[in-house]
Amino acid sequence: MIKKVFDSADSAADALARFIINEISFTSGYFNMALSGGSTPARLFRVLAENYETEIDWKRVRLFWVDERCVPPDHKESNFRMTKETLLEKVNIQKANIFRIKGEDDPAGEAKRYEELIRSQVPFLGNLPSFDLVLLGMGEDGHTASIFPDQIRLMRSEKICHGALHPQSGQKRITLTGPVINNGKTVVFFLTGIGKREMLKNVLQRDNRFPASYINPAGGNLYFFLDTEANPED
Ligand code: 6PG
Repeated sequence: MIKKVFDSADSAADALARFIINEISFTSGYFNMALSGGSTPARLFRVLAENYETEIDWKRVRLFWVDERCVPPDHKESNFRMTKETLLEKVNIQKANIFRIKGEDDPAGEAKRYEELIRSQVPFLGNLPSFDLVLLGMGEDGHTASIFPDQIRLMRSEKICHGALHPQSGQKRITLTGPVINNGKTVVFFLTGIGKREMLKNVLQRDNRFPASYINPAGGNLYFFLDTEANPED
């Protein structure tokens, strides 16, 4: 596990953008990246689009999602919409390289479709597809992807993709599960703000009450890109 701490959320986002560019440059062929939603990644996506668009060979980048809210793609809570507005509309990426989760469709059917899509598009490492990079966030309740503390069994699911429920709002979600996340070559948590500090301390201590604690890529690398606010006192 490698922790990188930066003075501000902006400098953390810039460093992570450069890290991703470097990862892509060291990969031949397609670079399959699974993106999280929420608000934190928006900062990274804007930096990639506004500062580094020309440094990436977008023909080689293929984007998948770690999770999605079960809403239409133009809904204000759609992870795809957030990514479209902050990144996809600003860079020269082909539509054929964008594999969104169809939040507007029946969750069970879409989870099945998305799993089959990943199995057919993402190269395997062992008995599971392996993303080149998985970008994760973490909620203050210790959830990651859309795996919440009351659904921690999804960290051990045999399925690649599963329906989930937000415990407070009851919002239906579709999420990648623990094993396929942990089969990624590189898994990166991007966390900023004082609100994450306390829970991150628990997660770094592998407190098994919290889903983010189960992220531990077997053959891959685990990185935490943080600002100082999110960084627990050592
Ligand atoms: C989602 C995300 C989720 C997110 C955390 C943190 O769909 O909401 O995938 O796992 O990473 O909720 O969200 P913030 O970045 O908004 O704090």
